Amino acid sequence: MALKRFPNALNVSSKILGEQLKFPNGRVAPNRFMKASMSERLSTYSPEDPKKHGLPTEKILNVYDKWGNGQFGMIITGNVLVDPTNLEDAGNAIIFKEGDSSERRSLYTQWAQKMKQDGALAIMQISHAGRQTSVKVNPTPWGASDIELKTDPPGSRYGKPIALTTEQVQTEVIDRFVYAAKYAYECGFDGIQLHGAFGYLLTQFTSPTTNKRSDKYGGSLENRNRLIMEIYDEIKKEIPESSGFLVGIKTNSKEWQDEGTSVEDAKVFCEAYEKKKFDFVELTGGTAEKFKFEHERESTKVREAFFVEFADAIRPVFNNTVVYLTGGFRTVGAMVDAVQKNTTQGIGLGRPSTAEPDLPKKILNGSVLSAVKDAFNPNNIIHQIMGSGTQIEEMSRNSLEKAGGNVMDQISDFSDEKVVAAFGERLAMMFGGKQAPKAVEVKA
Ligand SMILES: Cc1cc2nc3c(=O)[nH]c(=O)nc-3n(C[C@H](O)[C@H](O)[C@H](O)COP(=O)(O)O)c2cc1C
Repeated sequence: MALKRFPNALNVSSKILGEQLKFPNGRVAPNRFMKASMSERLSTYSPEDPKKHGLPTEKILNVYDKWGNGQFGMIITGNVLVDPTNLEDAGNAIIFKEGDSSERRSLYTQWAQKMKQDGALAIMQISHAGRQTSVKVNPTPWGASDIELKTDPPGSRYGKPIALTTEQVQTEVIDRFVYAAKYAYECGFDGIQLHGAFGYLLTQFTSPTTNKRSDKYGGSLENRNRLIMEIYDEIKKEIPESSGFLVGIKTNSKEWQDEGTSVEDAKVFCEAYEKKKFDFVELTGGTAEKFKFEHERESTKVREAFFVEFADAIRPVFNNTVVYLTGGFRTVGAMVDAVQKNTTQGIGLGRPSTAEPDLPKKILNGSVLSAVKDAFNPNNIIHQIMGSGTQIEEMSRNSLEKAGGNVMDQISDFSDEKVVAAFGERLAMMFGGKQAPKAVEVKA
């Protein structure tokens, strides 16, 4: 059955999306498309054995074999964690000193190579989950302060965090981020992206909701942003400028929970990133406490991107730092409009790129004008996210060669209502504590 697509309201050429993006350090992305970070959860989980803990697998290589042939200008890995005890979930890829081995280096090197096959810049997202570490991984993770995450989406719960001392901010956070960035550089990645969004540890420092500190990392906006600035400075000290290694950040344009970061605060943080000479910033919004994969107002729906009005407010602070906007883009018309209006320079794609790993290629060669339109209930964010996670797992089953060169090999067609209904039933059984019988297939 043919994939159903979003109607493309504006009849415009996709040509502008194929334009190169030049970074302040001279590096170039071949086009404006970015595959946004999406957690693969396909690495090993072996907390008792550091050498085997958080190792990328053949499955991850298979996934990036597909995206690496999709003509993205930049590809960002799912979150790679810098602390083996503070994971977003079991199955995350990890980089840490005690786990170093030639096997680990070889797997990360192959990962970067898969990403770069058709010219994309290979960027590793590095992250520390802090209080958003799932309780089954660690009931007492680190936090900026000891404020527990109350939200309880199905399948995940969080423990009460321990507030890092000032010294531990250096040893448990800064040193670990710098080690991971250098590792990524040595394994052939073109850059890293700090995960400074969605409520992970760096955001636990920037956000007044979670930062109640009285040391140099708490209080004023400058203090709350200090950790990110120090990580940036120390990465720059370790990796030669002449290498062209890119350092970027994913940052929230707004948080919606009580005392969350406001657009005005985000603007001040972004001014600092521009001044610091970050190579790129990816604007997004929301946290695990208050997800925001939807529009604030009816009036912005036509522009598709969820955070478009916040991006418009923040965009003027950037002159050299390249700006990407992620969340909601589905049609060529809206993508081109956002670039022409200078809301953003780059277009981040999350869920559309799991439904179709070569969406940029198809848009740039003019064969499609929009992403696959899934049949999920638009208000059921959990099912949509799990749908994308399932598609990533499906991509992992075969290398591109084994799939006969077909990047769509085995990927569920969630534009088919029957497939979505069967998937929903399977999830209901899982969340109801029952094992889904083998006969309930997600595929139609
Ligand atoms: C399955 C899944 C996993 C995700 N994992 C991450 C992650 O590891 N790091 C991150 O910054 N964002 C993550 N995201 C958020 C996406 O990068 C993106 O911001 C979000 O999906 C909105 O973009 P979209 O509307 O194009 O999907 C994830 C999203 C999905 C669907």
